[in-house]
Amino acid sequence: MKGFIFDLDGVIVSTDGLHYLAWKQMADKEGIYFDEKINNRLRGVSRMASLEIILERSVREYSDEEKQTLATYKNDIYKELLKSLTPNDILPGVSETLKELRARGYKLAIGSSSRNTPQILKYIGLEGFFDAVSDGNNITNSKPDPEVFIKGAVFLGLESSECYVVEDAKAGVDAGIAGGFTTIALGDAYGYDKADFSIKHFGEILSIAK
Ligand code: BG6
Ligand code: MG
Repeated sequence: MKGFIFDLDGVIVSTDGLHYLAWKQMADKEGIYFDEKINNRLRGVSRMASLEIILERSVREYSDEEKQTLATYKNDIYKELLKSLTPNDILPGVSETLKELRARGYKLAIGSSSRNTPQILKYIGLEGFFDAVSDGNNITNSKPDPEVFIKGAVFLGLESSECYVVEDAKAGVDAGIAGGFTTIALGDAYGYDKADFSIKHFGEILSIAK
């Protein structure tokens, strides 16, 4: 194995709460019921696909143009909330583990559905740290489609079979499997039986990748 592709939201940094607050404001404005359980279903899912899930609870149909307006409304709030992120928001064990993996010779990439990936990496002080970044800005198909990870491997100059994918979303683990990667599940995806490995703490990666 030669490389790692890490999901961003929920793996490197926890942004769920911020996504929730922004979607909640949009849903409240529209009078649509939305709670944290529904928010959990948005993990790893693209912005427009997330909106479709939220609109399942709406009493009326929305045109494509209205959907675009709602997604932009949410994203404007989310972008403001992202400004509160600092390097202290990097999840426990992540910084040390990434440094050790690099010392062991692994190439490191991000594979995220988020189009806000560049801003998030900047706020948490990891801009320029990864050898490659594949995100919502360079894909047309969101997880569970493997496109974001396959492009990440290409950007690293590696084969899928040479890379681990680290994910907190079941849809992300499915994407990794579909792309021919070895998958490591954590957080919300911990215990997902399709994953090759499940870990409770990020640092356990160091026992998998010697
Ligand atoms: C994923 C998040 O990383 O990015 C999803 O887990 C989110 O919840 C998706 O919907 C798209 O994010 P963005 O920042 O492009 O709206
Ligand atoms: Mg995630």
